[in-house]
Amino acid sequence: MIPRPVNMWPAIFMFMFGVCVCQKVNSRKLIEVASWKQISYNIYGVLYDTDAYTRRANSSTFYPQDLEDSEKFFIQYNNVPIGFEVYNNKAFVTVPRRRHGIPSTLNYILLDGTPSPPLRPYPHHQCDRPVSVYRPRVDCCHRLWMVDTGLLEVPNERKQLRPPAIVIFDLRTNKQILRYELKSTDLVNESTSGGLTSITVDASPQSCNGAYAYINDLATNGLIVFSLKERDSWRIDHTSFVHDPAALNFTVAGHTINWRDGLFSLALSEPRADGSRTAYYHPLVSTQEFSINTENLKKKTKDIEGLVTPLGDRGFLTQSGSHDYHAPTKTLLFGNVAQDAILCWNVETPLKPENVVVVAQNHEKLVYISDLKVIGEEVWVLVNQIPRFVYSRLDPDEDNYFIHRSNVRDLIRGTACDTSNNNILIIIID
Ligand SMILES: *[C@@H]1O[C@H](CO)[C@@H](O)[C@H](O)[C@H]1NC(C)=O
Ligand SMILES: *[C@@H]1O[C@H](CO)[C@@H](O)[C@H](O)[C@H]1NC(C)=O
Ligand SMILES: *[C@@H]1O[C@H](CO)[C@@H](O)[C@H](O)[C@H]1NC(C)=O
Repeated sequence: MIPRPVNMWPAIFMFMFGVCVCQKVNSRKLIEVASWKQISYNIYGVLYDTDAYTRRANSSTFYPQDLEDSEKFFIQYNNVPIGFEVYNNKAFVTVPRRRHGIPSTLNYILLDGTPSPPLRPYPHHQCDRPVSVYRPRVDCCHRLWMVDTGLLEVPNERKQLRPPAIVIFDLRTNKQILRYELKSTDLVNESTSGGLTSITVDASPQSCNGAYAYINDLATNGLIVFSLKERDSWRIDHTSFVHDPAALNFTVAGHTINWRDGLFSLALSEPRADGSRTAYYHPLVSTQEFSINTENLKKKTKDIEGLVTPLGDRGFLTQSGSHDYHAPTKTLLFGNVAQDAILCWNVETPLKPENVVVVAQNHEKLVYISDLKVIGEEVWVLVNQIPRFVYSRLDPDEDNYFIHRSNVRDLIRGTACDTSNNNILIIIID
């Protein structure tokens, strides 16, 4: 048989122009930090990698006091990681209590190269443990912030064990330094607590005590603002926090997503001279992006009508969860759930589909980016395929959960997000 001729065009172009020939969609730049078929735990030195009553190992102290004894067992399959954060040689990994059998919601792994590390409860010794945590964040003052939703979010058996609260740990002492219960006026109804899935911290090294936090409410469409100095919080409602019905029905892993999730992620620019920042935000079910000056969030006004900038539309299938800002390149990076991809957009360019670029895509390793974080010069993602868990079944013999990292400048080089001056000619091969 005559071999099929290989496509010589990339080599020919390279020869003719001496330029970089790039694949349009590049996932080779992803570096795997960890991957798991199933989540296991190391609790007080005892490995949990199979369904068990955890009390056999004397570890029930890791459960929140409010949890009934019947809840204190381990069902490995039900442990789906959803949020993460990185601090020095640790990655925090959260497992919100959306099913029975989750021994610990707030955990860490050591970044020591172990391919599938067991989760260890954080902090190691603590009686007052959070009930359920989604996406925690580290600030520049060595603190770990999170919302404890207080909710046992098992379908048809939802139980609000405690009021939702902001919890802060000091990462240098591993001690809890704040538990602030949200006010009833911050919450719309009993659905609200399950929608408090992220927190964005607005702090500067000069003013650790003056920090603010912005909490999304994707369930009842709001934003909750918290002032650390004043120990006060307030709620803002706006139409830009609500999902867009025209953006429903995208698919992930073959499943049609009809969740009506509103405000999902808020990313902050670098501060201006006056300390204010631009807050970029979007609902999950939307292809638009909005912004507002953080000064307008700090004023305790509930009405931000007229203060919101609709930035434009990212384009078809750009529905995204978490996003974060890389200040050196002025680029936002998005966990694009509708295309198993990471998107970029340079905020100094108009927001329109031509300026929004798929910089990594992988239909096995980027299926549902559940959390995304810019850390220094890198973007990190946690992937969990949650639509498979919700609508069908994960295969416990395959890799189901991943953490990857990638260099931001490598990802965006030569794309519309790269506005640096070296305008090299790039040839895109589909
Ligand atoms: C449980 O752990 C505590 C503290 O580590 C220890 O003092 C106690 O003896 C243990 N109990 C059992 C039954 O192992
Ligand atoms: C909570 O409020 C939202 C409106 O923001 C409403 O759509 C929903 O039905 C309410 N849920 C309950 C359980 O009352
Ligand atoms: C999404 O699906 C529902 C149910 O099939 C349908 O009624 C609705 O029109 C669809 N919306 C879009 C934007 O495709």
